[in-house]
Amino acid sequence: MNVQSSSATNLHKKDLRHFLNMNQFSKKEILEWIELMKLLKDARTRNAVPQLFKNQSLGMIFQQNSTRTRVSFETAATLLGGHALMLGAGDIHLGKKETVEDTVEDTARVLARMVDVIMIRTDKYADIERFAEYSSIPIINAMSTDVHGDDTGNHPTQCLADLLTMEEHLPRGKKLEDVTMVVVGDPSTPEVSLGYALSKLGATFKIISPEGYRLPQNVVDAIEANNKVSGGTFLQTTDIDEVKGADFVMAEEWCWGRTDEEIAQRDADFKPTYVVTMDLLEKAGPNALFMHVLPANAGNGRWPDEKEVTREVLESDRNLAWDEAENRLSAMMALLAYYGRPHFRVPDPEDIEYYDVKSKELLSRIFDRRIS
Ligand code: CP
Repeated sequence: MNVQSSSATNLHKKDLRHFLNMNQFSKKEILEWIELMKLLKDARTRNAVPQLFKNQSLGMIFQQNSTRTRVSFETAATLLGGHALMLGAGDIHLGKKETVEDTVEDTARVLARMVDVIMIRTDKYADIERFAEYSSIPIINAMSTDVHGDDTGNHPTQCLADLLTMEEHLPRGKKLEDVTMVVVGDPSTPEVSLGYALSKLGATFKIISPEGYRLPQNVVDAIEANNKVSGGTFLQTTDIDEVKGADFVMAEEWCWGRTDEEIAQRDADFKPTYVVTMDLLEKAGPNALFMHVLPANAGNGRWPDEKEVTREVLESDRNLAWDEAENRLSAMMALLAYYGRPHFRVPDPEDIEYYDVKSKELLSRIFDRRIS
């Protein structure tokens, strides 16, 4: 039998390119993302955001907590004239009756019949790839955390905001490809994405961390392959003096663990050398600026003591982390404008009139009174 689907959805699987990681984009495309973010940020400043996601819905699957990603996606959908649905762990069957691991195909197929774009935050990058394989609408990776597992977690929406923040604060006379970005801490999902993007651009990217805290080899290989083409530089080192000459110093969280012993071990490994202090920023250079994807462990969060960064740095005028967080909103606007557009159908005024009249006629018949 060849049964035709009765779907009213404009499914567009053909040529669909999901937003899964930064390595899928060329230098030209990364620069276009930055251009789109800048334009939409400017539009927001003027309260003139174009309605490029009008009458469309974003499904937000969160299997982990989030502040920035959730709020920025939801706000971006509203600003662009659309709507976002929070599909948190426990809110839908995914994770219970329909698990990410077992029935992700079914959920992907069903949600694609109802919403226009889906963003997913989960543990495994492979689950997002699998979801994308079965989805006929765009899938956005809103962070997959398994960096050192059997697949490579990454955080590409964060990376867009990081790139915009750097672009907005470039040293005089430098382009993005000329900058040196130094991360101090345990490299994780943001560094995978930054590694891909900065190597595509041809910039200098260094990670300074204790022995044993490194990006996985498959990511390093991809970064080095990009650098062969772009002329960029990549270094992973234990030498904190490599911070010298950095235009941007990013602190990455290193304090986590399953047991008190693991946490104590990390404290011993990272402190006091791999902590971003005012002295370290000064060592980087008189104009070096600080970045952090947040949340930061600066003596006011889960831990009573300062971990990867001091509060003094966060409160200083060298700190770009608040701009960086706000730029998540520009990133999400750019993503929804870009991915919502193929779905965008300008309604025919004759159709609107026809369905308004016909629905009211039918409802009048059902209720046996005139409905206008
Ligand atoms: N940086 C980031 O992804 O923040 P959230 O976890 O709050 O979304």
